[in-house]
Amino acid sequence: MIVLAIESSCDETAVAVVEDGFRVLSSVISSQIDIHKLYGGVVPEIASRNHVERIDAVFKEALSKAGIKKSQIDAVAVTYGAGLLGALIVGVNFAKGLAMALNKPLIPVNHIHAHIAANYISTKLVPPFLCLVVSGGHTALMEVKDYTKPKAIVSTTDDAIGECFDKVARVCGLDYPGGPNVSKLAKLGNPNIKFVLKPHKSKSFSYSGLKTAVINYVHKLQQKNEKVVVEDICASFQKEAIEQIVSISISECKQRNIKKLAIAGGVSANELLRTELQKQCILNNIEFFAPNLSYCTDNAAMVGALAYFLFKNQQTSNFERNQSKIAPVSTIAL
Ligand code: KG4
Ligand code: ZN
Repeated sequence: MIVLAIESSCDETAVAVVEDGFRVLSSVISSQIDIHKLYGGVVPEIASRNHVERIDAVFKEALSKAGIKKSQIDAVAVTYGAGLLGALIVGVNFAKGLAMALNKPLIPVNHIHAHIAANYISTKLVPPFLCLVVSGGHTALMEVKDYTKPKAIVSTTDDAIGECFDKVARVCGLDYPGGPNVSKLAKLGNPNIKFVLKPHKSKSFSYSGLKTAVINYVHKLQQKNEKVVVEDICASFQKEAIEQIVSISISECKQRNIKKLAIAGGVSANELLRTELQKQCILNNIEFFAPNLSYCTDNAAMVGALAYFLFKNQQTSNFERNQSKIAPVSTIAL
């Protein structure tokens, strides 16, 4: 089954062709990072306009790289949420037009669930398992008993970890997106600064305290005209941010007697996070799964991967009769 998948929830315009849920025939991503970098983060209206300008060319490139014609597409899948409203609408409307023109089923895909599915492309992961979804907008430990119904069992009470990486980067004068830059500089630093005095013991994730502590620390040094050692700040912040998620994830696996732990989302590209989770999984006799780096940040291949299982479960959308079915959440207004 050949799925044409579309992702436009944030600042990447992406189209992929995926066969049978795991064979990626093409995955094209047109990133807007260079534009949003100028503003220190994603500007929603600029993101929407750029999706409109790029989506048709990205679609054509995806077909050509996959070596298929439009007539060979069996279904069209699209991210309908979560994400930026205006950005999502571009992908959803493109998908609807295409599905209608080809007279093929339309499969609405949840962005967070799609991140989890990046593992089905890169690894031999099958449910049941726990998956830590860590991205710019989300931090949640999900229980996946079957492909189509992941359930959050631990969430963040405030910020997402990726947002925290981005804000720490900004206060340190590093470019957006902050995650890769923070992790690069952390390698050169000493994790000798303690930002949060009390260890994190609760059963939920929390990042606003750590984020504020880093920002206040930098501002105080700047006020006193003291030297800001960005490498040490990055190393110390990263260590604390990661300790929290690793310890909660492993303890949930143990409590629930689940022997498989996966990660997904942009922050799952973080080298220290991957190494620490792998280490703890080995110590606790848990199998560890992580997507290839190219499928960690936003892409459409993961959308196509999940769409295959949704289709098999008859979770398609009859957009001609009821548009609300493709937009069941308030993230998108059609
Ligand atoms: O999944 P994603 O592309 O978009 C969302 O769905 O949010 O994730 C983007 C986030 C950004 O916050 C970015 O800074 C972070 O992932 N990120 C990283 C790394 N690569 C990307 N964070 C830490 N370390 C990385 N290597
Ligand atoms: Zn994402």
